[in-house]
Amino acid sequence: MERDLKICLLGDPVLRERARPVTEINGELKDFIGKMAELMYKVKGLGLAANQVGVLKRVFIMDISQREGKPLLEVYINPEILEAEGETEYEEGCLSIPGYYAKVERFARLWVRAYDLEGNPFERELTGLHAIAFQHEYDHLEGILFIDRLSPLKKELFKKWWKKNAPSRR
Ligand code: NI
Repeated sequence: MERDLKICLLGDPVLRERARPVTEINGELKDFIGKMAELMYKVKGLGLAANQVGVLKRVFIMDISQREGKPLLEVYINPEILEAEGETEYEEGCLSIPGYYAKVERFARLWVRAYDLEGNPFERELTGLHAIAFQHEYDHLEGILFIDRLSPLKKELFKKWWKKNAPSRR
């Protein structure tokens, strides 16, 4: 399947597409998720969605524990948000928009459902950074980026910033 994974940057149409449900959790998918994890740890991201490496599957991974040096990888396959409540705000960034950070409003608490690597469904309550990261990654699967959630003024400022600071493509 995929060889070395590469992160797609803003402007790549794959980031704007809706990812499709996973229909089979098999060895190929596990290998792919393993590669995603390798890449996420290499670039020190908190999370990575399949869209970001050019694959339109409803899969994302995250690890919000990294900074404490004890990796705890979470895998979400075909994730769903069952319930959401409260409000919180956090300065978010995205591997597909390197160098840009901005505060985004999110739900403070989620109740989610997904499948794990063994194909078992699970439900989980998420709060704090956990809930924020989940919403950021879930958005990716819907073709939404955190900059879409900025105010009109901040969006304009971002556009100017990106013109100057977008990494050059080869
Ligand atoms: Ni992102």
